[in-house]
Amino acid sequence: MLDFLGNLERTHLCGDLRAAHAGQQVVLMGWVNRRRDHGNLIFLDLRDRSGIAQIVLDKELTPDGHLKGEQVRPEYVVAAVGKVSLRDKDAINPKMPTGEIEIEATQLLVLNDARLAPFSPSDEAIQNEEVRLKYRYVDLRRPEMQRNFWLRHEITLAIRESLSKQGFLEIETPILTKSTPEGARDFLVPSRVHPGEFYALPQSPQIFKQILMISGFDRYFQIARCFRDEDQRADRQLEFTQVDLEMSFPRQETVFGVVEQFLAAGFAAAGVTLPTPFPRITYDDSMRQFGSDKPDLRLPGLTDVRAAFTDAALATLQIDPALPVVALRIPKVGELSRKEREENHPIFDQKKGAKFIDDFKRLAKGFPEAAAKVRKLAGAADEDFVIIVAGDPAHPVKASDTKFEGRLSEREINVYSAAGNFRTELAKKYADRHGAFGITEEAVQNANPRSGGKAVDGASAFNPIWIVNFPMFEYDLASAKWMPAHHPFTSPFEADMANLISDPASVRANCYDLAMNGLELGSGSIRIHRKDVQQQIFQSLGISDEEAKARFGFFLDALEYGTPPHGGIALGLDRIVMLLAGAPSLREVIAFPKTAKAIDLMADAPTTVSEHQLKELHIRVALKS
Ligand code: AMO
Repeated sequence: MLDFLGNLERTHLCGDLRAAHAGQQVVLMGWVNRRRDHGNLIFLDLRDRSGIAQIVLDKELTPDGHLKGEQVRPEYVVAAVGKVSLRDKDAINPKMPTGEIEIEATQLLVLNDARLAPFSPSDEAIQNEEVRLKYRYVDLRRPEMQRNFWLRHEITLAIRESLSKQGFLEIETPILTKSTPEGARDFLVPSRVHPGEFYALPQSPQIFKQILMISGFDRYFQIARCFRDEDQRADRQLEFTQVDLEMSFPRQETVFGVVEQFLAAGFAAAGVTLPTPFPRITYDDSMRQFGSDKPDLRLPGLTDVRAAFTDAALATLQIDPALPVVALRIPKVGELSRKEREENHPIFDQKKGAKFIDDFKRLAKGFPEAAAKVRKLAGAADEDFVIIVAGDPAHPVKASDTKFEGRLSEREINVYSAAGNFRTELAKKYADRHGAFGITEEAVQNANPRSGGKAVDGASAFNPIWIVNFPMFEYDLASAKWMPAHHPFTSPFEADMANLISDPASVRANCYDLAMNGLELGSGSIRIHRKDVQQQIFQSLGISDEEAKARFGFFLDALEYGTPPHGGIALGLDRIVMLLAGAPSLREVIAFPKTAKAIDLMADAPTTVSEHQLKELHIRVALKS
């Protein structure tokens, strides 16, 4: 039999009670976390979002409450009325914040029962994520998940406050809109009123925020939901949230200053100190040093070891002498067996026309001096795993050979990025076992919010870095076209404008990324504010006037009505929270995420819809499964 609540009002949250409350009458409400039956005494661990308090049901004090205590099961919803009392010395539980007290109940109300879920929120997370997602309401009760969402709330609040203080106005932009230019596939929404026509969900508020600058708002921000129909990964969801901002008359430095301030505030809300200003690196240097445009600074960078080899040695080793020869070092891996090394082979990206040497014993036999030099140049200790990555003349990759003064060619980038990807994957593989990130797993745990983000050995666990001077275009081999590396509203360096059509590869863009621990946290640019420049960019991208008009006509029109120079950035809020929560995937910090197969397992979406609905939308499904 369930009880009615009547006039009973909750007086405290379970987790807030301390020894100082001893003697007070309290009313607590929550879920039965655990139940222990000691005959005349039944102990209930009562849980709400603040934590757990122990309720004692004494058969003598409350025969009725004791009887109900015999019947309640985990996850039943109950109210307990009673007095806070100090526990006996030997019953104190120092591991629980409320471990010094318990509630001597005089009454227990059973407000609701609960079916047995496939897992209990009082246990560690179960391995089967699909079950967790199907019963998300139970999963979200777990203290770890509750903590993640508190953290998300605190971080978001601090970011909002910081931006507001910096003069940014929060403005919402439409969800039902027109295709935006982020380069992913759109989600489309059919219009009932306009047969055959579709809205697109925004991939980002990009065009609208630029128009807000034309409208004179000067500084805009939004905690904006974005939608992209792209393959899911640990750090990618179909719908995700950006801290999106735009400002008028900024220089790159101005944007950096704003971001550093709000990000430091967001991290501070999680107990982590982020020193500002953040370091910077050019795109080319980032590729050379880390083989990535989102470098993970917790690992040693790549080392140029070309000097360790004679030309004859390179020829014998079948290494392309015109391409970089780099070494990557994963610390503290120890000696690997041949079999263990072979297991690493599939991780290497063969497609990039690069090869690798990881067998130093063999290398040392043929080229003892080179092998020793490589390890020395890479600063390798005995227990470090060193690998050489170089160009493979046997499998050259088709690429544009264009090379510009001081800039990297595509082939060079291929070798560096093959090395960079290998470095990241191997580090992930060996980090747990060997502390390859240079900081131990324990330190990473300690570095989580509550200890201020400092690893035990003093290395910071969170490493932001700006990547600047990106190329404006990337060559797409499949379509044999130059594609914008960022979106097409990014302005080129004024000095490179003359080369837009003749030498696209040489054009640098006024755009920047923010990376942290191997993740791209944010991306932005100083925009094009002149229509003539915008048209030139479209032209250089092979976007015809008609296409530009059809896709972005309203924006091109707006550009003609007094557009100030402007620029901005968007940071992935989910990614920020994921890092600070120490979570392995965005699904841990999004309340109702989609699976890797783009399904909401709890709500069971997507699903088919009724014929009636389809008819109203003027849609016929051609494919019957
Ligand atoms: P961009 O497309 O680089 O830039 O996105 C900015 C940031 O948003 C996050 N992000 C994602 N997070 C989770 N799941 C996804 N599928 C996903 N896609 C992107 C990343 C990324 O760095 N309008 C431009 C910004 C600008 O130029 O101002 C934009 O959206 O953290």
